[in-house]
Amino acid sequence: GLRVLNSTSAMSSHVLNHSHQDLSSLPGSDLVVQLSTSLQRKPDVVDFGTVFTDHMLSVEWNANGGWQTPLIRPFGDLSLHPACSALHYAVELFEGLKVYRGDDKRLRLFRPLLNMERMSKSAKRACLPAFDQSELLGCIKRLIEIDQDWVPHLGSGCLYIRPTFIGTEPSLGVKKPNRALLYVIMCQAGSYFNTELSLWADPKYTRAWKGGTGDCKMGGNYGGTLFAQQEAGSYDCQQVLWLYGEDHQITEGGTMNIFLHWINEDGDEELATPPLDGIILPGVTRQSILDLARKWDEFKVSERYLTMGQLCSALKQQRLKEMFGSGTACRILLSGLARCGFSFFFCLGPPGDKSLSSNLLRINFALFQHGRSPSDWTYLV
Ligand SMILES: Cc1ncc(COP(=O)(O)O)c(C=O)c1O
Repeated sequence: GLRVLNSTSAMSSHVLNHSHQDLSSLPGSDLVVQLSTSLQRKPDVVDFGTVFTDHMLSVEWNANGGWQTPLIRPFGDLSLHPACSALHYAVELFEGLKVYRGDDKRLRLFRPLLNMERMSKSAKRACLPAFDQSELLGCIKRLIEIDQDWVPHLGSGCLYIRPTFIGTEPSLGVKKPNRALLYVIMCQAGSYFNTELSLWADPKYTRAWKGGTGDCKMGGNYGGTLFAQQEAGSYDCQQVLWLYGEDHQITEGGTMNIFLHWINEDGDEELATPPLDGIILPGVTRQSILDLARKWDEFKVSERYLTMGQLCSALKQQRLKEMFGSGTACRILLSGLARCGFSFFFCLGPPGDKSLSSNLLRINFALFQHGRSPSDWTYLV
């Protein structure tokens, strides 16, 4: 059946300001829920991103009417015009965040407003319409509540949430879409941690470039990386270490931000990651690691350019303590072996129990997995 729900508490403060004339406002308070009559059996173990929960959220937009009523409905296929701008010109963007079940059984999201903000920036760059971030978060919260049984009760698994925003203009003209669809799907995710990873670095491929879209989570950024990823696989490496420019700047690893924990050229202990200069995806995990490390104030924390040359001399001189990648999908992934496509490869020791990334991982667990310490970084569902 179809029923209209009351606004959730997250939305209530915005309800009064709502007017459908305001084309940027996504009217979460009108959310309609259409429950599935046949719920799926929840599988025990699944490959990431293959099995989705029973419901999805979708909201349509068009240039004349603005945002339409958000709908939570049974998970199912989309019907798209074959000329749809997302399919032809990659007018598409997405987000990725996770919801965890704490020891107290409550569900928690991690800094979701940062994802909403990043999604807004991607939308602007993709010429897709603005939306009310807290209204969307309120709708996502409602979707999680409906499918809450999908958040694993035991172990360290969680639910991965994939907000997606596509241009649905039914025309082959290369232009700003007059129609769009924002939808949110969710799938179970296991835990990935203490994984050693081989990275393949070859300057012949570039993930992102200055003036491009690398700092937005747009689908086209990812489709274009598959070829290099496949080549990395042929060298027995799992991911690509993305380099940029003549000086082979280290930018990202696979779909992770990269950190070096080392004794730098000046002899100082430093945690360093490349700066947000347009070619780096501003990771929520990256930001959180920087925030935490700055609060600790135990070593220098820098957003600075890092080159392969600097990394290689640090390795030779045994100044590198650890190199690791960070991202929501993998939480914090430790990098074991890195191989450079051009001339040589090098080995990093396995992550020690006292390593910085192991420590960050423990904090990560305490915060979201178990909800042990109250934090303004966690958002209760
Ligand atoms: C290219 C890229 N870098 C870094 C990240 C990590 O970002 P976050 O920590 O927000 O998951 C992601 C994943 O979202 C990504 O796609």
